[in-house]
Amino acid sequence: MSDPGLSKRSIEVRAKSVIKRFSDPEDFEREYAVYKLELSMTPRLLGWQEPLWLELERIDGQPYLDLPLDAKAVTSLAQTLARFHRATWKNGECLCHWDNQPRNILKCEDTLFFIDFSESRRARPEDDITHLLLFWASEFASSQLERLARAFSEEYRRHISLDRITWLDASKESITRFDERRAQYGHPEPHASEKVCLGNRLFLRTLLD
Ligand SMILES: Nc1ncnc2c1ncn2[C@@H]1O[C@H](COP(=O)(O)OP(=O)(O)O)[C@@H](O)[C@H]1O
Ligand SMILES: [Mg+2]
Repeated sequence: MSDPGLSKRSIEVRAKSVIKRFSDPEDFEREYAVYKLELSMTPRLLGWQEPLWLELERIDGQPYLDLPLDAKAVTSLAQTLARFHRATWKNGECLCHWDNQPRNILKCEDTLFFIDFSESRRARPEDDITHLLLFWASEFASSQLERLARAFSEEYRRHISLDRITWLDASKESITRFDERRAQYGHPEPHASEKVCLGNRLFLRTLLD
């Protein structure tokens, strides 16, 4: 699978840290702005040179969807994302990760970390969540997707409320964004068939009904 970031950024993984180098100063600024907040769900910022590189704590983890997505992991992800959104909440918008693909969400023991904020931006939380759940729609059988997505939204909404009309709008936009990125950058073979994935997407649209 080719990587959207490869041409613009490079990563050097060291024993305890990771150096991320940037060729686009705006990518640097977006990431730096997030790591500077020192949130609990992001690796610690160990050093930087503006606008060229960041040195981050190395998370000894795996992409969370490479591991079983059980009820505990779903609850943890919903709580972690809600905490991330709440930390930057203002006037109905928050900092959204935007590129919340599984490789940018690392699970280390029972803790989840978000990395790679070069596309992060202020937006509606519904934009981040509808996009995140599309990765599940491509992975899981319908009954599993429905159970997991319901559990996720219930837990998330214990912390931040979501708006149904905004959800419908965000769902449409996230599907366009998701499909455009897959067409542009390629993707691993989805586990769900095209028909199952379509049904899953329809279910996700109605998740807040
Ligand atoms: N702090 C980190 N801890 C552990 N692995 C990391 C860390 N930062 C990046 N990586 C690894 O490097 C990969 C690419 O880094 P990422 O920041 O996502 O850059 P890109 O913009 O190229 O996607 C990640 O998917 C992850 O495997
Ligand atoms: Mg990445």
